[in-house]
Amino acid sequence: MSFKIKNARDFVDQEVIMEGWMYNRRGSGKIYFMQLRDGTGFMQGIVTEDESGKESMEQAEKLTAETSLRVTGKISQHPKKEDTFEMIVTKIEPVQIPAEEYPISKKEHGPDFLLDNRHLWLRSGKQWAIQRVRNTIINATYEYFADNDFIKIDSPILTPNACEGTTELFEINYFDDDTAYLSQSGQLYLEAAVMSHGRVFDFGPVFRAEKSKTRRHLTEFWMMDAEMAYCDHKMSMEIQEGLMMNIIKRVLEKNMKELAILERDVEPLKKIQGPFIRKTHAEVVAELREMGSDIGEKDDLGADDETMLTKKYDLPIFVEKYPAEVKAFYMKRDPENEGLALCCDLLAPEGYGEIIGGSEREDNLDIILKRIEEHKLDPKVFDWYLDLRKYGSVPHSGFGYGLERITGWITGTHHIRETIPFPRLINRLRP
Ligand code: 4AD
Ligand code: MG
Repeated sequence: MSFKIKNARDFVDQEVIMEGWMYNRRGSGKIYFMQLRDGTGFMQGIVTEDESGKESMEQAEKLTAETSLRVTGKISQHPKKEDTFEMIVTKIEPVQIPAEEYPISKKEHGPDFLLDNRHLWLRSGKQWAIQRVRNTIINATYEYFADNDFIKIDSPILTPNACEGTTELFEINYFDDDTAYLSQSGQLYLEAAVMSHGRVFDFGPVFRAEKSKTRRHLTEFWMMDAEMAYCDHKMSMEIQEGLMMNIIKRVLEKNMKELAILERDVEPLKKIQGPFIRKTHAEVVAELREMGSDIGEKDDLGADDETMLTKKYDLPIFVEKYPAEVKAFYMKRDPENEGLALCCDLLAPEGYGEIIGGSEREDNLDIILKRIEEHKLDPKVFDWYLDLRKYGSVPHSGFGYGLERITGWITGTHHIRETIPFPRLINRLRP
């Protein structure tokens, strides 16, 4: 087995070769501390003339940040820090010494500079840690669905119709004067697939021409949509809860080092357990007004409302039954109150707000046609979707999560632009 920093404990007292980069270096003259990284983690390499020799000392002195290198040395347990290992360096072989000084240093850089240099910023400790956690969330999602009889169905990115609001559509020319839109969510396609497989999910990039410049909005982000046949609104919430619990469990098992690098207080995450809080939109509006919000009975929750509400509770909150006017055309109405949608948003605690949106779907042909007309959508482009209500329609529900929103909450990252490798925002398309 070749050496990797994450497995350093298995190599104590052994001589190993680390293939990676020098993240940074401290010290001078008598002793150098090289911060080494190899993709799997970070480790300190100690260089002294006695242990490492004259040649290594000369190398250590002249190397600059982000030199790629192979370092040979012996692994030892850190004298003071538990579960931390270091390397007593015996040989340094640079692979490439940077031609110029590395642009990102330890000093404070503004967010614009860092985002302009995102291709390099990804190497920094915190950015590395965020992507590791994001990866665990992805794997925990696949795992939960595989264990619960879902199969993955890949929905298309180029679509002829809108799924969510038409004001946030990216439009492109599609040969012979046809118009295509970049998908806002794979949901409608999963509604077709669910009639074949019962339980399905997709996971891919979606696009919103969002004009909102908030810490919660990207124009391209990764969504996971899940859809279940013979499933009502309540059962769907239980699935969402099970999925979120599996994600938190796996992150706490696998990413304690990353969360420490991020200085994320893990106590709030450890406290998360089911059942999550369930409140209706009407209850939440009353509560928010008492807290000083000017939200109206028929209003969607604003960003500030979500922040205020979710700071108040330790658990995620399902907000159920929004006024139908503020929600999408496909949502089934509450049989007890036709003005409400049989839907829920899941809001993450600690001020993070909406991470999941979902609902039971309208499964009756005449009613869904009426909704399409009410929303001023063109029924012609939905002909295939209407077929699903013609041939063996069943009660079904589903939901979609925003991967960056979940990663933002779990890693304690303020703005979700840091949770996606290459963020796309209104004013940012590069690198
Ligand atoms: O609430 P949304 O718009 O729901 C849907 O698109 C449904 N079709 C999903 C479904 O039922 N299958 O989006 C789902 C989630 C939100 O809860 C949020 O986490 C995230 O996607 N999201 C965004 N994330 C980043 N930037 C944006 N502009 C986002 N818009 C939504
Ligand atoms: Mg939503």
